[in-house]
Amino acid sequence: MLVPPYNPGMDTPTLNRREFLTTTAAVTGTLALPGITGQTQAAIPPATQPHTSQPGSFDFIHLTDMHVTARRKGDQGYRTCVQSVRDMKNQPAFALIGGDMAFDGLYTPKDKYVEQVRLYKEISDGLNMPYHHCMGNHDVLGWSGRRKVQVTDPDFGKKYIMDALQWDNPYYSFDHNGWHFAVLDCIYPIQQDHGPGYEPRIGDEQLDWLAYDLGAAGDRPKVVMTHIAAFCNTAQIKGDPTAPGMPPGIVLRDTAKLQAVLERHKVKALLQGHTHRPEEYRWRGVWYITSPAVSGAWWAGDFTGAGPGYTVFHCGEEGELAWDMLPYDWEAQLEPDDGLERDRNAQTQAKRDEQAKLLTLERAGR
Ligand SMILES: [Fe+2]
Repeated sequence: MLVPPYNPGMDTPTLNRREFLTTTAAVTGTLALPGITGQTQAAIPPATQPHTSQPGSFDFIHLTDMHVTARRKGDQGYRTCVQSVRDMKNQPAFALIGGDMAFDGLYTPKDKYVEQVRLYKEISDGLNMPYHHCMGNHDVLGWSGRRKVQVTDPDFGKKYIMDALQWDNPYYSFDHNGWHFAVLDCIYPIQQDHGPGYEPRIGDEQLDWLAYDLGAAGDRPKVVMTHIAAFCNTAQIKGDPTAPGMPPGIVLRDTAKLQAVLERHKVKALLQGHTHRPEEYRWRGVWYITSPAVSGAWWAGDFTGAGPGYTVFHCGEEGELAWDMLPYDWEAQLEPDDGLERDRNAQTQAKRDEQAKLLTLERAGR
């Protein structure tokens, strides 16, 4: 059974949404850039074999940033999330997992990280549907100056989680019912003063792969997933005019290049995670959708007013894409040393109470 529409609280507007991106709506709706959305323009010919079958209708689910850990009973939280998916009346055909499956591998001792990955797999298997992972920064072992493993560790970097999940390539694509899905790896390796690290970037080689992969998909409706967002309105959310538009670590460094590929191939939506702030943003015919984090504030409650949740996507026979951001029922289980989180939750509740009080006064006209 679907839980009520997602309403993360006072910091963001109600996010229950059902936007149909039919080919006609695309040119009569919020955007009407010829050649960018819709198929009123000449269709781009497929790069390989032509696609003739019509897309079928189905649902899929986007679960991101579950940060699985026994701390704060996060493993139980994720089990609750998975159960809520299994309780859905209309079962999704598959799950796209948006990254940060493990609580952390960058600066966590290896034995704990290994257990987090094990828990992630065990609990995700309970979805009883295919699930497709996307690499998150916290899924990587040791690419940080705070690493707790040697750089010579045989499981260093992406190797451990890819082996454990029998994951052949960190970026890949697949088809379902006439729709095409591409999964990106934006955890781009770089050398830093401390040794191996990463920056949020797709990189030219992968972008080239993506362009030809989407080209080969021809006219199929297309959805792409990344962990770190191409668009994120952090500065606007904070209301800080001095905040950078592309804060380091928060937004992809090569958003402009990715955006061009997505537009060229009429991709319906880029699914994003990482910030734990649900957002929907439409730019030049592409939806940039950041789903709620499954873990909310890393299992400590709501993060900037957004609680634990996920997004269900509805794919239609005419290539329509609609979605609902949904919460699931989980109360934070704070630990004795979670003083900061306790204070933050109290502040959040005080702000909510204040907003409720103002609303009551304003509706009463006094
Ligand atoms: Fe995360």
